[in-house]
Amino acid sequence: MEKKEAPKSSLDALVSLCKRRGFIFQSSEIYGGFAGFWDYGPLGCEMKRNIKDSWWRFTVRDREDVEGLDASIIMHPAIWKASGHLDTFSDPMSMCKGNCRKLMRADQIWDLFEESALRETLAGMLGEAGKIATWCKGKGKAVAPGLYTVQHPEYLEKIFEKLKTITDVKELFILLATPEGEPEVLPCPNCGGVMTEPRPFNLMFKTIVGPVEDPSNVAYLRPETAQAIFADFSNVMVSSRQMPPFGIGQVGKSFRNEVTPRNYIFRSREFEQMEVEFFIKPDEAVELLCGHVAPLTETTDLSEPQADWGWECWHKYWVEQRKIWLVKNGLPEDSFVEYWQKPDELAHYARACVDIEYRFPFGVQELEGIAARSDFDLSRHQEHSGKSMEVFDEPLKLAVKKLSDEEKAAFRAKVVAEWEARGKTAEAANIFIDRLFEGRYIPHVIEPSAGVDRMALAMLCNAYEEQKLIDEKGKEDIRTVLHLAPAIAPIKVGVFPLVKNKPELYNFAREIFKKLQRRYNCFWDESGAIGRRYRRQDEIGTPFCVTVDFDTLEKDGTVTLRDRDTMQQERISVDDLIRRLDDLILG
Ligand code: GLY
Repeated sequence: MEKKEAPKSSLDALVSLCKRRGFIFQSSEIYGGFAGFWDYGPLGCEMKRNIKDSWWRFTVRDREDVEGLDASIIMHPAIWKASGHLDTFSDPMSMCKGNCRKLMRADQIWDLFEESALRETLAGMLGEAGKIATWCKGKGKAVAPGLYTVQHPEYLEKIFEKLKTITDVKELFILLATPEGEPEVLPCPNCGGVMTEPRPFNLMFKTIVGPVEDPSNVAYLRPETAQAIFADFSNVMVSSRQMPPFGIGQVGKSFRNEVTPRNYIFRSREFEQMEVEFFIKPDEAVELLCGHVAPLTETTDLSEPQADWGWECWHKYWVEQRKIWLVKNGLPEDSFVEYWQKPDELAHYARACVDIEYRFPFGVQELEGIAARSDFDLSRHQEHSGKSMEVFDEPLKLAVKKLSDEEKAAFRAKVVAEWEARGKTAEAANIFIDRLFEGRYIPHVIEPSAGVDRMALAMLCNAYEEQKLIDEKGKEDIRTVLHLAPAIAPIKVGVFPLVKNKPELYNFAREIFKKLQRRYNCFWDESGAIGRRYRRQDEIGTPFCVTVDFDTLEKDGTVTLRDRDTMQQERISVDDLIRRLDDLILG
């Protein structure tokens, strides 16, 4: 069959496939759904598990310098005070004062307008004042009942000439929404009403711990897995006998009460994270230990960690590690963008942050972030809990012992000047240096933080293809296929007996299925034409299919092994089959 290029489909086709084949369902669908919550069906939960397993193996199990953690979701509320989430983890929220009273994230209002039917309608009338006036007096009443000019059509006369000249749809919308003589308003993309001034809305879900509904019993569902890692830092370090540089990885659910959950599973209220907090020595400690801090240049070899790395090398190393994992799991390098946040975009404690952004059908959006968070988090927890978060580094103490008084004084002067240049006080620098000279410091942190759900969405979007095929008779056909990486695909192998009514053939296929099923998730399918069975597996991303046919028993005992992407089949003996599949699936 000849293959023809067909355009990649929109998110709608993928959403429909995901529901039909059991990847993703709307939560509580039988009650009309529940915004911002999603359920993963039989295939979706396998796929999600594969993403988490692959991350865990690559980031935790295969490394000697990363330990795992599975902390509780509800933690002492003081954690969220220390982390800053109670005071600052909020989004700007606005409410429509017009007809619909809808709540929206103020910074997303124009995005919502861009996606709205109202925008399309207004764009279609740009420059046509007469049409706009007719619309305001007619159809506009149903579509945008909150719009000022719909409610006050007499105002149209005064702006009639201006309406002829406006070429920008946003400008037109603001003009139609702004009451006569008043300053420009922020209009509601839903009904055209006026939005309130934005107010901060804390995104943490509250709950009550214990039977008494008292403010003193309020706790929060964690909005990130990271804080438990900081709170358990000393426990993990001591129990696993690690010293910086080392990391703690955690995979788990987090919850954010998003004002406007949107874009399918991209921004939901309940989601899963895969985070590492990688603890490193402060650069000043590296300098004392190694005599220098390795500069990060274009040619720095980042393949293996080195003792003289400071935070810049470690940060870039983790960016590279994350890219290696993404590519290994099927996201081509040209499908994502590495965005280095500009100094004015950084959180106040961050020294650098790289967003790895994916080209989703709804726009380029953050897939994961790799932040250099300095010693901010551990310092805050030390301050709030009263428990030391310092480590004692014997080699550092010994290195300092070897320095002369002059060398120590020169080091101190240099560090104080560097700290002052970063806006810190000489007093704080001197306290830090005193502790450093005793071999003590609070580790700094590099944080690679990825979202499981958005990772699953990126992988599904990347994998989805509607291929136009032409058969030998020239007939066109569409093959829907998910080109998922074998490690991520929910089912690794489909096993089929060519026919059901030949017991010997059937039982031989069944034995192969059972053998393979012990190694990886397989699917048995005996119903329908063989071509249809292949298509059913293509659509859910099964990378390989094995068919037992007449030749298997009558000739050489070989089966056919079909590749999902090339649709090519080869004959292979059962012994070779297992070896080959192990190579292809387990890598
Ligand atoms: N810990 C970083 C985040 O949740 O975005």
